[in-house]
Amino acid sequence: MKVAVIGAKGQVGQSVVQAFAERDDEVFALAHAEIEIANLESVSDCLVRLQPDVVVNTAAMHNVEHCEEQAEQAYAVNALGARNLALATRNLDALLIHISTDYVFDGSKGKPYMEEDAPLPINVYGNTKLAGEYFVRSLNKKHFVLRTSALYGKYPCRAKGGKNFPDLMLHLARERGRVRVVDSEVVSPTSALELASQIVALTGCDAYGLYHATGEGSCSWYDFARELFAVTSTKVDLQVAAPNEFPAKVRRPSYSVLENAGLKRIGLNCFGSWQGALREYLAQSGDGTASALVSKPMQTT
Ligand SMILES: NC(=O)c1ccc[n+]([C@@H]2O[C@H](COP(=O)([O-])OP(=O)(O)OC[C@H]3O[C@@H](n4cnc5c(N)ncnc54)[C@H](OP(=O)(O)O)[C@@H]3O)[C@@H](O)[C@H]2O)c1
Repeated sequence: MKVAVIGAKGQVGQSVVQAFAERDDEVFALAHAEIEIANLESVSDCLVRLQPDVVVNTAAMHNVEHCEEQAEQAYAVNALGARNLALATRNLDALLIHISTDYVFDGSKGKPYMEEDAPLPINVYGNTKLAGEYFVRSLNKKHFVLRTSALYGKYPCRAKGGKNFPDLMLHLARERGRVRVVDSEVVSPTSALELASQIVALTGCDAYGLYHATGEGSCSWYDFARELFAVTSTKVDLQVAAPNEFPAKVRRPSYSVLENAGLKRIGLNCFGSWQGALREYLAQSGDGTASALVSKPMQTT
């Protein structure tokens, strides 16, 4: 299979390139310098030249604050970029796998969101990503739109820069010995590695559509940090941050847990518990915690 991965230098993109390469597919790893998804001509020229069977779009403008400040640019990338890819892949009769987000929901449901729940984004990022979903779903019937959440993995997130959440927490614990984390946002932490495996698995199936694709279970960021420190036997004074300690510039859903109902229905859910994925990540990152990982029982939150 010929697979084009867009956003190939990003957190998810690099894992996806690796996952397809390990299967001996022919992979075209397309960085931003090689394709501009907001530009239809750039998208068409690139994909017509490569003639892929599958296009995986991991590219997005997803720094939530930047999206709020530059709404037109966010729409150009997240909505029109998705439209451009849907048009180009339809013309090539190629499958388009497009990554979306839990931020299409407002968070008021208070229990896990299903694919059929009505979205209601509360910020520019969520609105532009939802528009992108609609373009993909309406323009190329050979599509998988995968909504994911709270990603971390061995490659850094380009849009956010710096360390991912587990690495940042371990770093702060070592540097300061005291860490304060919010418990006001509940998410489903998702390993980029598991998401990449999920994407590869879907290329063997034609149950096209919209799917939730996150780690199983849910937690607040505080719970996530507590689990991380327990598994790694990190000595730290962990506290819940006060409600306005880290004032947010942009509204975010306070609860954005997704149920992988569609993937389970088609028998293709590749995700395990978020706690198990975290342990796997720590084991692979060789964070000096191997003995703790082997000897400690799984913590639950
Ligand atoms: N990170 C999360 O926690 C999270 C949660 C839910 C959903 N998602 C979604 O997951 C997807 C992947 O996220 P990620 O964490 O892997 O992001 P990332 O690390 O920021 O990678 C995105 C990649 O896309 C490239 N890119 C950005 N704009 C582009 C454009 N206009 N044309 C072509 N390439 C472009 C970037 O290149 P440059 O950096 O060189 O511009 C970067 O390499 C996104 O769709 C995001 O909305 C992420």
